[in-house]
Amino acid sequence: MLAACSQPTTAPDTQTEPMIAEGKVLVAENCLSCHVLSPDSAPIRADAPPLSQVLGNYNSESLADDFREGIHVGHPDMPDFDFGPRGTDAVIAYLKSIQVGD
Ligand code: HEC
Repeated sequence: MLAACSQPTTAPDTQTEPMIAEGKVLVAENCLSCHVLSPDSAPIRADAPPLSQVLGNYNSESLADDFREGIHVGHPDMPDFDFGPRGTDAVIAYLKSIQVGD
């Protein structure tokens, strides 16, 4: 009875996972030419912080806003990113998922 009626949870997780996967692809394609993911990795560019740490000093909501406005997160020679609302959420979801520490 219980098992028969159980259905996948509709908690945010189930929506977030595909978003994270999508964001991961966007980040891999657009960000990893300059940024490394982990602080343990050898930096590609000394001035680009590891992405697993950026949300520590950058509020994810204001970062999301910046992305929506076409990203102005202070990159001196950063290309213009326009991921659209969904892509932006995906990138943020992914960045959140890889943050270390707090
Ligand atoms: C052309 C190289 C380059 C690319 C591509 C790039 N970044 Fe950066 N990013 C930098 C550099 C350099 C900095 C440090 C700039 C600074 O602090 O002024 C930086 C800083 C950041 C910061 C911190 C900003 C702050 O003010 O603390 C975030 C967040 C960030 N990048 C996210 C991303 C994301 C997400 C992508 C992919 C969508 C991306 N970057 C792509 C070079 C790049």
